[in-house]
This record gives sequence, structure tokens and C-alpha cells, in this order.
Amino acid sequence: PEVIGVEALAAKIRKIPNWPQEGILFHDITPVLQSPQYFRLLVDLMVYRYMDQKIDVVAGLDARGFIIGAALAYQLNVGFVPIRKKGKLPFTTIAESYELEYGHATIEMHTDAVKPGTRVLLVDDLVATGGTMTAGAKLIRKLGAEVVEAAAIIEFTDLPGGKRIRNEGVPLFTLYQNS
Ligand code: PRP
Ligand code: MG
Repeated sequence: PEVIGVEALAAKIRKIPNWPQEGILFHDITPVLQSPQYFRLLVDLMVYRYMDQKIDVVAGLDARGFIIGAALAYQLNVGFVPIRKKGKLPFTTIAESYELEYGHATIEMHTDAVKPGTRVLLVDDLVATGGTMTAGAKLIRKLGAEVVEAAAIIEFTDLPGGKRIRNEGVPLFTLYQNS
């Protein structure tokens, strides 16, 4: 069988023009997820990076960060915390609002999800404007926990997202960078 690497992994992400609205090139990770080889490669590349970094918990961003984050947490033998879009979490929450390429959003996290000093790995599928990842990092920090790193498959280097996240003092790791 062919040997696959990050280049092939990035190419496996399907690009859909003008979705969910005109002018947006949507990056659809479902072809990666539905392939046993590519999904495993994705999770294993992340496991390889974080297995020695004393991660206490993986926090995943609603919704696509849940898929990658939960698999990663299981393999790292740590718990998983969902950071959800507004109105989905039932217990006491803290919230953070941010701008997206298409509209704006608010995300929330349970106040008991992490504790001061907890070493958190924050995960999503991709970084565009960086709004989602930055808001997630702010929530974690509001609770006194540490964002060890923010991780995603792809970062678009022609957008200010990566810079925005790093400017917040959050280390960002992406498997693939695309301009
Ligand atoms: C997409 C993507 C990232 C975010 C990246 O999620 O999955 O979470 O946008 O964009 P940003 O860097 O500009 O914030 P979306 O909000 O479309 O929701 P979904 O994951 O629930 O599909
Ligand atoms: Mg998302």
C-alpha cells in the first residue's frame, strides 16, 4: 500500500466552493474521517506529538474538534472536555464571543471542566481567522488552566489566524500550512 504523509492527509480534505455561503471555500474533513488509514494517521500524528507532554485533558471545539479531540484524548489516556456552541451545555458555564468568516458566534465551557493548573491540549480541525481557537483558549485560561498548545490539521497562512493565536501567547501546532 502507498505510504501516506501530511501532504496526502491535507489533500484528502475536500474543498467545497461557496459553502455555506458565497465566497467561502469550505474545508470538509469527512473524507479523512471515513478512511480508516487517514483517520488513524491524523490521530497518531497528534498522539506522537503529545504523548510526552504531560497533557491532563483534551478540550475539543464544537463540532469538528470533538471528533479529533475525543479520539486523541482516548489514545493519550486522558479525559475530554467539550467547548460547545452557546446554549448546549446544561451546567454552569462561562462564555466567550468571537467573529467568524461567516457571522459571529459564542462558545461555552462548563466551569468545572478544568481547574487552575490543569494542562490542556486544545483541538480543532482547522484555523482560518483564529477566532474559534482564540476564544477557546480564553475560556480555558479564565478558569486558571494552562493551554499547553492549540492543535489543528490545517492553518491558512494567508489569513491572520495563526498570528492571532500566537499573539495571545498560545502555542499553535498545525500538521499542514496552506496559503
Ligand atoms: C469551522 C472550523 C473551525 C473554525 C475555524 O467551524 O471547524 O472550528 O470554523 O475558523 P476560524 O479560525 O475563523 O474561527 P464552524 O464554526 O464552521 O463550525 P463546525 O465545526 O461546527 O462545523
Ligand atoms: Mg469548527
